[in-house]
Amino acid sequence: MAGGLREHLVAYFEEQHKLVEAGALQLILTQNQPLVLSRELVERVGADSPFVTREIVEAALAQRRPARAVGGDLASEVPATVRLAPTVPFELLREGFTGPPVATQPIAAYEALFQSRFRQLARLLRGRPQLPNLCPVKELRAFDGGASVIGMVREVRETPQRHHLILTVDDESGSLEVLVPRDSPGSRTTFLPDEVVGLHLQFAKGPGKLPRVAAVERPDVPHTRAVGRSPAGVRAIFLSDLHVGSRSFLSESWGHLVDFLRGEGPNPELAATIDHVVVAGDLVDGIGIYPRQERDLAIADVVEQYAELGRRFRELPDRLTIVTIPGNHDAVCPAEPQPALPANVSHGWPTNVRILSNPSTFALHGVVIQAYHGRSFDDLIPALPGASYARPTDVMKRMLQMRHLAPIYGDRTPLAPLPQDGLVIDPAPDILVTGHAHTFGVDRYRGVLLLNASTWQAETEYQRMRNISPVPARAAVVDLATLGLAAFDFSGRAPVILGAGA
Ligand SMILES: [Fe+2]
Repeated sequence: MAGGLREHLVAYFEEQHKLVEAGALQLILTQNQPLVLSRELVERVGADSPFVTREIVEAALAQRRPARAVGGDLASEVPATVRLAPTVPFELLREGFTGPPVATQPIAAYEALFQSRFRQLARLLRGRPQLPNLCPVKELRAFDGGASVIGMVREVRETPQRHHLILTVDDESGSLEVLVPRDSPGSRTTFLPDEVVGLHLQFAKGPGKLPRVAAVERPDVPHTRAVGRSPAGVRAIFLSDLHVGSRSFLSESWGHLVDFLRGEGPNPELAATIDHVVVAGDLVDGIGIYPRQERDLAIADVVEQYAELGRRFRELPDRLTIVTIPGNHDAVCPAEPQPALPANVSHGWPTNVRILSNPSTFALHGVVIQAYHGRSFDDLIPALPGASYARPTDVMKRMLQMRHLAPIYGDRTPLAPLPQDGLVIDPAPDILVTGHAHTFGVDRYRGVLLLNASTWQAETEYQRMRNISPVPARAAVVDLATLGLAAFDFSGRAPVILGAGA
């Protein structure tokens, strides 16, 4: 790790009135989540000591050993402390944004990003029985029974006559071209640029023949894994895309939500069990996000938009923990992972609001939730046959299969060249929540609850132009003990329960 992150950490410990030993700092810098670990260490040391020693770091790391999967082939990588502590209301597991880029040359910075992606995802694939005789690309040989490689997809093209696919994949040792026969099982799922896949290969006899892909193995969510469940009677409500400051912000519907959460609407018994609110980005409408946006704004000053949002949050009961991430309309760098909102826009917010980066993974009472705004829908929907903004949860399944939220580089989703790829989905969550599509979607995939969390903005002229039909003022209330949910429509005078189920 280079100097930028080191200085960032030293400054953080100083801010917390802690002196960090050189050996301790060195050890922290070698970990996957140095910022999250640093926060844990400060909490762990508390007021007991002004020092963070190497022994303290080692003790903290020892407690972070992975939980054991229940009969699974892959362990979920969630720290054991979380799995063992369903009574802890909130635990931050991973923020996508891990500090500013450390390389000074853009090419080196992006190289580091893609190496990080490859290493994180290859770690999930290595050791699987579906990938026998696994070897680096450079050492690939024609084993009896075939051999396997793990590669990042660089290019996909079709043979002109028979429409087989030719994939070019890279690993850290080199590049390889392989043939995916048309109509073979491996060709059924579209290969996306820059996703990481495991390929089991068979070798054809004859000079110049490409190895054939006999099977494709994606990182995916294990069928069996440790699943977080809270104690009975704890619920969370999921929202997204508030767009406060827009003329189209649905103030009246928001009022119905506030009444409901205060127990002043129908279902006060249910409302009283909601302890958490998760908001998946686009907290405000922002400024200059799309051409002539000023015509759509009720509040033209972005700082004032956030102040208004603070007032809206204060309307909610203060027993709630409100977890927020930014989206592409918010006042942070649009490249993903996005940092958490800065204090100069959120300073007046109530203290029960947690301000995290986009994406972020956290546990609510032991239930692991990944919140991602969903900007990559703009790239994945055109790239995946049959995908649409009306069914974002289909795209979210594909994200889980790839274990990546935004694999495509160089299109609409700008990627920040951070040394660690914070868009890798690791650990696999119990709930994946997104926004951005301004629709409402619920689905399940291998035990993961998928939510696209609607919007609190009516249709804008810009959306009409882009053929996006919003489904606003919906919210899912999820029972964290069972992951069963009740879906509400707050657009009318009284919230309507749209459906409930496990
Ligand atoms: Fe939005």
